[in-house]
Amino acid sequence: MSTVAKVKKTFFCQSCGTQHNKWVGKCGSCGEWNTLVEEILKKETKNDRLQLFSASKDPKINNKSILLQEIGLQDYPRIAVPGKELTRVLGGGIVPGSLVLFGGEPGIGKSTLMLQLALRLKNLKILYVSGEESEQQIKMRAERIGVTTDLCFILQETNTQNIFQQIAEIEPQLVIIDSIQTLHTAYVESSPGSVSQVRECAAEFLRFAKETNTPVFMIGHITKEGSLAGPKVLEHMVDTVLQFEGDRNHIYRLLRATKNRFGSTNEMGIYEMNGDGLREVTNPSEILITNREHATSGVAISATMEGNRPMLIETQALVSSAAYGVPQRSSTGFDLRRLSMLLAVLEKRCGFKLAVKDVFINIAGGIKVEDPGIDLALVCGILSSNEDLPIPQTVCFAAEVGLTGEIRPVNRIEQRISEAQKLGFEKIFISSFNKKGLNPKLFTIEIIFVNKIEEVFGMLFG
Ligand code: TYD
Ligand code: MG
Repeated sequence: MSTVAKVKKTFFCQSCGTQHNKWVGKCGSCGEWNTLVEEILKKETKNDRLQLFSASKDPKINNKSILLQEIGLQDYPRIAVPGKELTRVLGGGIVPGSLVLFGGEPGIGKSTLMLQLALRLKNLKILYVSGEESEQQIKMRAERIGVTTDLCFILQETNTQNIFQQIAEIEPQLVIIDSIQTLHTAYVESSPGSVSQVRECAAEFLRFAKETNTPVFMIGHITKEGSLAGPKVLEHMVDTVLQFEGDRNHIYRLLRATKNRFGSTNEMGIYEMNGDGLREVTNPSEILITNREHATSGVAISATMEGNRPMLIETQALVSSAAYGVPQRSSTGFDLRRLSMLLAVLEKRCGFKLAVKDVFINIAGGIKVEDPGIDLALVCGILSSNEDLPIPQTVCFAAEVGLTGEIRPVNRIEQRISEAQKLGFEKIFISSFNKKGLNPKLFTIEIIFVNKIEEVFGMLFG
């Protein structure tokens, strides 16, 4: 084996991970400016790399092609995970040999959720690798969570070769990496967190996962400025991308799958950050709606769907006269462009004068909603605030608003109505187009079919 390492330098876009041979100001792939950074690659010899998993049980180095009908599914039963929320988001448990990337902003609770998973999977041998925190810190967090287990190994290490050595020794059934940006492999010379390091380390774990059929969870940071390599590079490599989001100042956290090779990406899990770790929220509607003594203007309840799960959400609107110059429009938890569109529809099609008003929108609980079924509630909330007339607390809404001011149907209407009924609402406004195939007699809640915003306005505020 030659001792002189061949040193190769290339430029990587720190935003999208594209490799460039020379420096340019703008990455041709993602269009970002000033994101190219020179990184040193050291070419390893083929043999070095193969030794990496010499301890792995079943290295399938020479794969053979196989007929589709001969592939059995029964060989891969999913590993059941504790907790309904994570199970649902993963699509029914952990798939053996899968590589999962778990992203989120710093401080959101990624380490907490992963440690909780490690502690609660009691009959599985788990290796929790931390490159960020000391063993004592992890122990303290475990004490806080208050669950004990005797099969969870903690390893404080950042060198992947050493990690694989430990893996060979312990033979864990699940590996958790906290976080991928802190690791470095000896085969790449650039610093930890750079695109080539992150990609190379992830590739090593990808191979490990596939060759030994061991699931691997990797935590990845997301930073706005991209000082660490964005996990964008990783998203293509992994089987599942989980995203932990929410407002750090709120206690609720949303877990979504933005990519899932083994399940739907529509599902969402809700957690609440407590003093003793993350608690699952199984009845989100009851928590997201504030119980008020009196109805308040600007508040409207929407029956939305998050994936396959109906959820009632409180929307709040505040409309006031613009004090200076250009009116402000601001929105938390709802797309600002969609808000502008709804305001334009109200102005142009329905004749409500909102152009000179400041409009502020907030979705209670720090939740982000993408379901268009929330439109009607928002519009009614805006009108309610504008008129300063409250909407009765027993009323909710589930419909989209179109560009002509028409009220459009939404999917899974029965589920939305049932959820509203379950929570004690007495009236729900939905689109007339949702009438087909719907039997109102099945529900005790009063269903009001509407076509135009003016109709709803008339019924609510007279
Ligand atoms: P952490 O899991 O370290 O976040 P991440 O790994 O995503 O950076 O935890 C983030 C915050 O959660 C931290 O500020 C402390 C808080 N926290 C609680 O409120 N309760 C708890 O039981 C734990 C463990 C943490
Ligand atoms: Mg952490």
